[in-house]
Amino acid sequence: MPDTTPRIANLSDHVGQTVTVRGWVTHVRSSGKVAFAVIRDGTGVMQAVFVKTQLPPEVWERFKELTLETSVYVTGEVRAEPRAPGGFEMGVVGLAIFGSSPLDYPIQPKEHGIDFLLDHRHFWLRSNRQRAIFSVRNEIEQSIHDFFYERGFLRIDTPILTAAIGERSGLFSTEYFEEGNAYLAQTGQLYGEAAAAAFGKIYTFGPTFRAEKSKTRRHLTEFWMIEPEVAWNDSADNMRLQEDFISYIVQRCLERRGAELRELERDIAPLERVKAPFHRVNYTDAVAVIQDKGSETKWGDDLGAEDESLLVADYDRPVFVMNYPKEAKAFYMKENPEDPRTVLCDDCLAPEGYGEIIGGSQREDDYDKLLRRIHEEALPVDAYGWYLDLRKYGTFVHSGFGLGLERTVAWICGLPHIREASAFPRMMHRLRP
Ligand code: 4AD
Ligand code: MG
Repeated sequence: MPDTTPRIANLSDHVGQTVTVRGWVTHVRSSGKVAFAVIRDGTGVMQAVFVKTQLPPEVWERFKELTLETSVYVTGEVRAEPRAPGGFEMGVVGLAIFGSSPLDYPIQPKEHGIDFLLDHRHFWLRSNRQRAIFSVRNEIEQSIHDFFYERGFLRIDTPILTAAIGERSGLFSTEYFEEGNAYLAQTGQLYGEAAAAAFGKIYTFGPTFRAEKSKTRRHLTEFWMIEPEVAWNDSADNMRLQEDFISYIVQRCLERRGAELRELERDIAPLERVKAPFHRVNYTDAVAVIQDKGSETKWGDDLGAEDESLLVADYDRPVFVMNYPKEAKAFYMKENPEDPRTVLCDDCLAPEGYGEIIGGSQREDDYDKLLRRIHEEALPVDAYGWYLDLRKYGTFVHSGFGLGLERTVAWICGLPHIREASAFPRMMHRLRP
């Protein structure tokens, strides 16, 4: 059903008609005889034109009450006007004020510091730039669902309150009745593996939590992760799925969100190069390359943000770094039969210094090896009984990965910091608004 409610984005359907648009005032100016108000309704902006001689005096007087962010019902005839912001204007015949907005509205048309903007995130969201970001984020989310739906994956929603730990980074915990501590999920993966044995190809799409004390431009304490898990995929299949997936998402944003990427002043040339196949580098070779470039990272360490930047500088497309040492990665990754010091895994690094957007791996399918790793990592074995069972009753080759949604949004939008990719970001020092 087409929505026939007049919204600014569909004003082209109402040219010549008299309609009422509901929205918020973003600018006003008056010459004494003619006055203009720019109205935003979330779908776009429209210029409302008030001509003193053509209006009842009370409407002309009411115009003077309009301040930044006053909410209004404005009625008039819609005209195409290429010089107006948004391309349409309204010849006003009626104006009703729904909610006044005092003159001390916090966000004014001037530069504000980042902490001030984050403290007023509930208002900052009203800017054109934020609308562009969340419209790209929405496109990314929709393209993810479409990609998996078209390929026959089932979406599985996994629990947020869990007893088992998935990753090494910090945990948020809360008391859970008589059951002891519950942890906020760091990942849906372990449950995803159970679902893959049941349904073949699945993905999860949900919030995940990391109590990491990292104050970097790519860490949030709450972020959304997309985690496909596929029965019978090995590590090579897993990387092919990742490169098809990322290429699909980027292509969709280029096709459908060009206007928003322009609003964000995103250089799209690097995005246009994001096509499978991506580059593949072994961890061991990667360490040699970054050491040559001056990094002090040693074999055995995980790669830091700077290492990742050094490495991707040589490439024009995303890069897979494959087969990290066991000690750098989580317990569930499958031992590499060709070099048992390493595991069958990959991190997918985005270009332009955005770093790791995906962590993926083939999963350990051998009961004894997995149990040994659980002991080595000093994890509570009893919490993993059900997970070990997946290796005891009909174990299977399987692989999957996790894409960080906000990192992907930050990269595709070209944002300098991940915080703007979340509507209400949660970081070490930020729980409000
Ligand atoms: O590499 P990670 O920790 O992998 C997992 O959680 C696996 N269970 C995924 C899987 O195999 N199913 O996290 C995956 C991705 C990272 O590549 C990154 O994009 C994002 O999640 N991520 C974060 N994003 C924002 N803030 C953080 N603190 C993040 N930690 C990870
Ligand atoms: Mg990782």
